[in-house]
Amino acid sequence: MKIVAALAAFVIVMIVLGALFMYSGIYNIAATSGHLPMTRWLLTVGMERSVEQHADGIQVPPLSAGSQVLRGLRHFEAFCLPCHGAPGIPRTQIGEGETPVPPELSDAVPKWNAAELYWIVKHGIKYTGMPGFGPSHREDELWAIVAFLLRLPGLTAAEYEAMTKDVEVLTGEGELIALAGPPGEGLTACARCHGLKGAGKGVGAFPRLAGQGETYLYESLKSYASGARPSGIMRPVAEALTDDQMRAVAAYYAGVDDAPYPPLPGADPVSLQRGGAISAVGLPVTATDRRALDVRPPIRCWRANMRTTRRFSFRSGRRVCAAADRDRR
Ligand code: HEC
Ligand code: HEC
Repeated sequence: MKIVAALAAFVIVMIVLGALFMYSGIYNIAATSGHLPMTRWLLTVGMERSVEQHADGIQVPPLSAGSQVLRGLRHFEAFCLPCHGAPGIPRTQIGEGETPVPPELSDAVPKWNAAELYWIVKHGIKYTGMPGFGPSHREDELWAIVAFLLRLPGLTAAEYEAMTKDVEVLTGEGELIALAGPPGEGLTACARCHGLKGAGKGVGAFPRLAGQGETYLYESLKSYASGARPSGIMRPVAEALTDDQMRAVAAYYAGVDDAPYPPLPGADPVSLQRGGAISAVGLPVTATDRRALDVRPPIRCWRANMRTTRRFSFRSGRRVCAAADRDRR
């Protein structure tokens, strides 16, 4: 009984002392004062366990596509570089003044698996400077960042620089620097991602702007800026433009008619054939599917004297004409 009373008294005294300590303002909250080694150790272990637990069960999509890595790189330059630095690029003064100091990601990444990296980038880490990007970025954008992070370890400064320059996009780099400043600055310059002439990027990382409808381009920028079309990467870019600038840049790209088309990637002939058939007659569905979805057979066969329907047959790989309404009951 005595022991219980003593313990209770101890706990109460600790709580009162803790409250007094907190209220007194003696504790130094300055980010520049750092942590005691003991505090740092406790916080790090707690953080690592928490991330491990919360990332458990997250399904990791394929992450090796070149276009994903390239898109991730541009996100990284815009949102992570100031705090974390990159190979050959030290962190800026923003990162220097934090507790804990943001780690060099080339060293930190191998500690984590893809699901854990995704979780950290999406949710951030409480009581540190590490923000969560979930509220501002789409899922595919978060995974693109992870795809790039996985490439970071072992990347040399020269390799990193070569990636950021990406010669395919930045043909006419001299002109670009004159317009938008050296790479790393002027991140909102469209050419850094879409290419000087808006040719885009062959592998699909950045859409082609050249020759698209002026209204479409303008409306796209408006809806990125308002968030109606969500994109972590285009929103800050579009928000920085005035309405007049949006109209001007839309008119510019709509008018470009000499942007080179990148070479088509060698598509698989079977996919090409199937794609052609689907675009001509629609997706093949079974009679049961069709009833469930209430989908009408797409296009009638053009022989006026025969009420037939054209369908794509996966078995023969060809379009076939079948008697209309036969299986629509
Ligand atoms: C405002 C500064 C800031 C920005 C911006 C920032 N981070 Fe961080 N990040 C931090 C800090 C500080 C930590 C250290 C947290 C800790 O050690 O508990 C951290 C930790 C991390 C970690 C865990 C590393 C480890 O092992 O401790 C990863 C991964 C990470 N950041 C990725 C990113 C990515 C990717 C971006 C951009 C999308 C980003 N960060 C943007 C400040 C930042
Ligand atoms: C940091 C890279 C980056 C920069 C800089 C950038 N974009 Fe984009 N842009 C993208 C990505 C990635 C997409 C695809 C976004 C999506 O998935 O919706 C995109 C999409 C677009 C689209 C929609 C295209 C379509 O076919 O629907 C327009 C329009 C556009 N950007 C215009 C611009 C303009 C104008 C600028 C310069 C003021 C610019 N972008 C700067 C990366 C960038």
